[in-house]
Amino acid sequence: MEQILVIGANGQIGSELVLALSAQHGAEHVIASDIGGNLHGAAQYEQLDVLDAARMAQLIERHHITQVYQLAALLSVTGEQAPLRAWSLNMDGLLNILEIARKRDQAGTPLRVFWPSSIAAFGPSTPAVATPQTTIMDPTTIYGISKLAGERLCEYYFHKFGVDVRSIRYPGIISYKSPPGGGTTDYAIAIFHAALQGDCYQCYLGPDTTLPMIYMSDAIRATTLLMDAPAAQIRVRSSYNVAGVSFNPQQLAQAIQRVLPQFEIRYAPDERQAIAASWPQSLDDIQACADWGWQAQVGLEQMVDDMLKNIAPLQTKPLKLERLL
Ligand code: SER
Repeated sequence: MEQILVIGANGQIGSELVLALSAQHGAEHVIASDIGGNLHGAAQYEQLDVLDAARMAQLIERHHITQVYQLAALLSVTGEQAPLRAWSLNMDGLLNILEIARKRDQAGTPLRVFWPSSIAAFGPSTPAVATPQTTIMDPTTIYGISKLAGERLCEYYFHKFGVDVRSIRYPGIISYKSPPGGGTTDYAIAIFHAALQGDCYQCYLGPDTTLPMIYMSDAIRATTLLMDAPAAQIRVRSSYNVAGVSFNPQQLAQAIQRVLPQFEIRYAPDERQAIAASWPQSLDDIQACADWGWQAQVGLEQMVDDMLKNIAPLQTKPLKLERLL
């Protein structure tokens, strides 16, 4: 029986991953942790600063942990506001868990580790369309630089010490349960809230800025598929490309307008435009498909319907949803 620790459980991915893992393994086998309080009412919760390696090791030992998801990080936009803090949090958080896993492997109590990389690990010289698994990577943000360095560390710890670490280069993740924090892809969530409030959405990216995105249900499924796969099938120990659905703000606005014809969007690109322009437009995920059976399920129209249906009850002003009602 697995005993699972989710670090960064209050975040966008963590909050939903705790639910999915609890459904799969039983809530008594999943321990949520984050720097603050138990925001989402996890059945088992421990306060943990990812930079506190001693407490991390104690928790892993006390709860007989066999799998760790280390999700605590500063994203691309907040990272640019505090580059040294982003570097320290993103790198030391990863190194702390890799070192604990290395020591536990030596002691005969191995840990399987999940760590998220990102499309931000790519850069302006990367082929932008159907970006291959292995290609040029020249990230321009401190977040992307930390993700690329982290990927190299994961591969290093696997080859040198045998640590069973696994990773996905997440596209922008679209979800409604918990807000993302400080990413360049966040427009694709904020737009739904504006649309349902009847507001005109002012988009900080230009209309044709295409980015790889993924719906949360697909992101969670990819994560658990990868972690449940036999070790022999994991042929990439840096991080896997995983594709969901690619679109630009204009295409997303049009998909929303098919449900809410009165919705309006305006464009006022800011400094986030340069970050988005340095990232891929779509990913080639053939390696993830071949190694552990990955296949995206949610397309643009289904994602838009699901976001609007789930955010609508949270809104106060009544609006007519053409396709959903
Ligand atoms: N969603 C992240 C961001 O926009 C990318 O991994 O920073």
